[in-house]
Amino acid sequence: MSALLVGESVCKYFGGLKAVDDVSFELAEGEILGLIGPNGAGKTTLFSVAAGSVPATHGRVLLDGKPVNGKAGYRSVHQGICRTHQIVRPFARLSVLDNVLVGHHYGSPEGSHSSPRDRAMEILDFIGLAERANQLPGELTLAGRKRLEVARALATGPRVLLLDEVVAGLNPVEGKRFVDLIRQIRERGTSIIMIEHVMHAVMGLSDRIMVLDHGRLIAEGNPQDVAHDPQVIEAYLGREDDEDGETVTPSAEERHDA
Ligand SMILES: Nc1ncnc2c1ncn2[C@@H]1O[C@H](COP(=O)(O)OP(=O)(O)OP(=O)(O)O)[C@@H](O)[C@H]1O
Ligand SMILES: [Mg+2]
Repeated sequence: MSALLVGESVCKYFGGLKAVDDVSFELAEGEILGLIGPNGAGKTTLFSVAAGSVPATHGRVLLDGKPVNGKAGYRSVHQGICRTHQIVRPFARLSVLDNVLVGHHYGSPEGSHSSPRDRAMEILDFIGLAERANQLPGELTLAGRKRLEVARALATGPRVLLLDEVVAGLNPVEGKRFVDLIRQIRERGTSIIMIEHVMHAVMGLSDRIMVLDHGRLIAEGNPQDVAHDPQVIEAYLGREDDEDGETVTPSAEERHDA
């Protein structure tokens, strides 16, 4: 497999804080790469750099050998990379269908000869929201809003999809449905990097895992090896705060609810 997305010594500093500190990575075509680490490790910041929404302080990200533009997010969407947001951000006054149409217009979906509306409905059907097309996002459950976030990203026609905590905060049944959905997205040809605190989801889905701690890449490898890495256990997995070990640290929603 050849590398589709490459990060070269990516650094992102906020003043004196090294949120991402010299992180290099590769995502192969068709791969699911898991990104884990404690709260504040720099995972979302690395996504923001990779998606072109914030410029790197040093280093760069290349998609198909071309630098991802660090100034305007829409350009990277045109290049074929799209991210979801940890705190879902639907357009509150637009219907579910119109939210997906925005994604379609914003991106450059290829390989579809159907009308934007038909394409958007096709995505809503795939994602399991077709019956909610005319509702407002506020009428959906959290799981529904997370599905909508993914649908809108898919509508841009991404080659690389960056999923930021899409399973965290869902109940076990909804979480399992999401895991199946992510698998199907990959089967349809999209390569994925997923940030996730729900261990069974990220360990079960990922071909490889990267672990960040204090902005640094502290481990990388297959899920089994990473789960047994003493440094990872010390920095992250050892901090299990619920009895069944499902979620290592609280999700964004849980943190906001607290
Ligand atoms: N825009 C910003 N300005 C200043 N500091 C920031 C900014 N965004 C993030 N940070 C800081 O950078 C560090 C990394 O944050 P980031 O959100 O990337 O972590 P994370 O790994 O996604 O954590 P979580 O699991 O809680 O979502 C944190 O210390 C955070 O407070
Ligand atoms: Mg985050």
